[in-house]
Amino acid sequence: MIRLNDRTFDVFLSEEEVLQQVRNLGAQLSAEYEGKELVFLAILNGSFMFASDLLKNISIPCEISFVKMSSYSGTNSRGEVNELLGLNADIRKKHVVIIEDIVDTGLTIDKIHSLLEVHGAASVKVCSLLFKPDAFLGKRNPEYIGFSIPNAFVVGYGLDYNEKGRNLSAIYQLKES
Ligand code: IMP
Ligand code: MG
Repeated sequence: MIRLNDRTFDVFLSEEEVLQQVRNLGAQLSAEYEGKELVFLAILNGSFMFASDLLKNISIPCEISFVKMSSYSGTNSRGEVNELLGLNADIRKKHVVIIEDIVDTGLTIDKIHSLLEVHGAASVKVCSLLFKPDAFLGKRNPEYIGFSIPNAFVVGYGLDYNEKGRNLSAIYQLKES
């Protein structure tokens, strides 16, 4: 059990369970992208730890670029404009795998897909360590999933609660009090 700010969390996935599944995902991706130009796009901040461990388990040549979604108030009708910051890899005609920590409603991933459309990638797929199917409202399910989990708040292994908890090597679930 751990405490972050005002909340208590219990272990949900141990470090070993997480790393075992990361090894499986690495092996699966290495087999499926063999012989292809592969570029990973890791979405900061939450995916930094997953991206690091996943890439150690990729056995074929690949590139990685770290990108961040920004949002700011604009003057269009939706009131919000999103940009993908830091995309300096040339992804034209390459196969892109987006690395996410968690897909919850799926809205972030939908936005990333639409922002990448103009870049002419050969394919764009999503590898998310965690997926909450009960919260999902997106257009496309993530293609590679570490764990499908219940709709409860989790922290650790890159995921935060008010910016705390990213350093934890296991994944913890909010304890309902
Ligand atoms: P989505 O757009 O709803 O899929 O949300 C994606 C983002 O919300 C993730 O990249 C996380 O930053 C954050 N998020 C969603 N659920 C959790 C959670 O249980 N713990 C920590 N962050 C979360
Ligand atoms: Mg995130």
